[in-house]
Amino acid sequence: MVLQAIKYSRGQLEILDQLKLPHQEEYDHIYSSTDAWHAIKEMRTRGAPAIAIVAALALAVELVNMKLPAAAEEVQVFILEKLDYLVTSRPTAVNLADAARKLKKTTEDAAAKEGADGSSVREAYVAAADKMLVDDVSDNENIGKHGAEWIVKNTAAGRQGKVSMVTHCNTGSLATAGYGTALGVIRALHAQGALKHAFCTETRPYNQGSRLTAFELVHDHIPATLVTDSMAAALLRLKGGSENIAAIVVGADRVAANGDTANKIGTYSLAILARHHGVKFLVAAPRTTIDLSTESGSDIVIEERPGQEVTLAKGPRHDGATLDLAVVETVSIAAHGIGVWNPAFDVTPAELIDGIITEVGVVEKDSDGVFHLQGVFGTGG
Ligand code: MRU
Repeated sequence: MVLQAIKYSRGQLEILDQLKLPHQEEYDHIYSSTDAWHAIKEMRTRGAPAIAIVAALALAVELVNMKLPAAAEEVQVFILEKLDYLVTSRPTAVNLADAARKLKKTTEDAAAKEGADGSSVREAYVAAADKMLVDDVSDNENIGKHGAEWIVKNTAAGRQGKVSMVTHCNTGSLATAGYGTALGVIRALHAQGALKHAFCTETRPYNQGSRLTAFELVHDHIPATLVTDSMAAALLRLKGGSENIAAIVVGADRVAANGDTANKIGTYSLAILARHHGVKFLVAAPRTTIDLSTESGSDIVIEERPGQEVTLAKGPRHDGATLDLAVVETVSIAAHGIGVWNPAFDVTPAELIDGIITEVGVVEKDSDGVFHLQGVFGTGG
């Protein structure tokens, strides 16, 4: 079975409800941009590329099923308003804003064509949204290929034989249209027989690592071990050498022009640990995550989420011996009344990043320690 976070055909969209994973695999129907906005906000679907694709496709579904105005201009106004609304669902991942910008341009160009009507504008929008889904999978496969090649060539463990890898959060099939970015690199290493072992962090407070990445690793029969976030330093120190840990590879929600990278909270600590232990630290992301209009990490808006994500834990009833998947319970795991700070992301300075793996290759810093990310966009910039 292929893991699929997004099921789409013209006029129909379903998302795997990631709040219920790993215990229940249930798909929710998404009929409109309002449905998508709520699914993204509530994190039933999540991960920078997946958020963008679900938003784009939800509007495509809405357009296909609605009574369409005949005038091109009316459809254009409708699309532009819905895209502005969708972008407000979550602020940090740039992929959604990037997708909205591109889809707006497609819509405006289609509406400006001679003889355009409501239906031609809709079809241009739907085709562009469909393409985003298809492109994301092939981009991820290329990220996997470039990342695996780089690791085998540029790390001592890679040159000696099989490598072990550490990853954070969930960046796999569940966070994208398929295959994944950082987890795609681990998948590619495994596929070519170059992976010894994968370690995934629990990724508190939302547990994308233990719930989602662990689920994907088990699903794909990749040799893997789960550690809590607080075990990462000990892992690198005690097992780094014997396990041949070559690199920590993470995804990204927004890469600024200078290479500073916003990603799941805890990423920055891992980058510091990697530097201290002489382990490479790599960011894997499609070019849609690179935001040249954001100069540096300090310009990135970091989403803050409800404190309850830290103070409450949710899962199926467990009486010590058996798991009752039918009954989901919420338990409090913090002292009642305590204040909570819950930033969903942090920013890792470019200085701590050894390479940014994209679908067109791995970008490294020049001899002055500077990333030149505009290069990945070619002359079209
Ligand atoms: O809050 P989430 O689960 O949407 O955060 C996801 C991450 O931070 C991922 O690492 C990032 O979006 C890259 S997904 C390919």
